[in-house]
Amino acid sequence: MPHEILVTGPIPAAQLKELEDNYTIHRLWQAPDPEARLAELRNNITAIISTAFFGASGKVIRAFPNLEIISHFGVGYDNVDVGAAKERGIVVTNTPDVLTDDTADIGMGLVLCVFRRLVEGDIYVRSGQWATKGKLPLGRALRARKMGIVGLGRIGAAVAKRAAAFGIDISYSGRNEKKDSGFKFYASVEEMASNVDILMLTCPYGPETHHLIDAKILKALGKTGVLINIARGKVVDETALIDALENGTISGAGLDVFENEPDVPSALCRLDNVVLQPHQGSATHETRAAMAQLVVDNLRMYFEKAQVLTPV
Ligand code: 8YV
Repeated sequence: MPHEILVTGPIPAAQLKELEDNYTIHRLWQAPDPEARLAELRNNITAIISTAFFGASGKVIRAFPNLEIISHFGVGYDNVDVGAAKERGIVVTNTPDVLTDDTADIGMGLVLCVFRRLVEGDIYVRSGQWATKGKLPLGRALRARKMGIVGLGRIGAAVAKRAAAFGIDISYSGRNEKKDSGFKFYASVEEMASNVDILMLTCPYGPETHHLIDAKILKALGKTGVLINIARGKVVDETALIDALENGTISGAGLDVFENEPDVPSALCRLDNVVLQPHQGSATHETRAAMAQLVVDNLRMYFEKAQVLTPV
């Protein structure tokens, strides 16, 4: 009997086909009544492919008595209850490395958009305002800016490399000082925020980073400061952020992630000092295929050799 795999959200077609050729696949996102489908499949499922939009909570994990492995499609696995999985000896894997460059590119893209008004400029041209109102107000130069990176992991380091090429001075904060990085370390995010122009969030989400960026940190970032979030929405207190943007406590923001995706507060959408993206960090054909291949390879390795490539 082939293993039965619950695929919670769409993954690229080639890798879905590879799964279909080897296992019995259940596409949860296409089920008219997902709850009923989960109940029907209760005893059959040995593997789950979770995503940023449909995780594996303790409830989901406990609902499948024969579950052996959760292969998560993404590097951030904050919506997978790893503790509940480990209690049952369930293996959890994720997809690090393959998405590092693309996610860092989105981070720098947001910086460029905010400082050089790229999105506003596009709207200005399309709407005919260039012809009627004249030049767009000036942007701000990137060179010699200071960027503070919250979480100098794989993605944070890739952003640092890109930012350095723009002549930006880098510092960072995080759980541990990384002496060999060559960048200035701040033990306090608040102190770092008060010393930089750009606060770049690339840290994982969890109890330690829930609403790490609150009204106090935004105040420290200050009137000319810009917040960029390519981490997770819940790292930021979104209400405090809206307030800071509306009142000029900070100058602007570039956001790829939100507290309650895909719902974005209308207050954020009304502001012209923010650039918004629909969680695009890893969203290229190449990277999504590489992520999906890692998901599939982890499952294959597990079922054939009782080993995995990228355990959590
Ligand atoms: C999503 C991400 O996983 O890797 C992560 O942590 O947030 C993204 O790459 C992607 O949208 C697929 O769910």
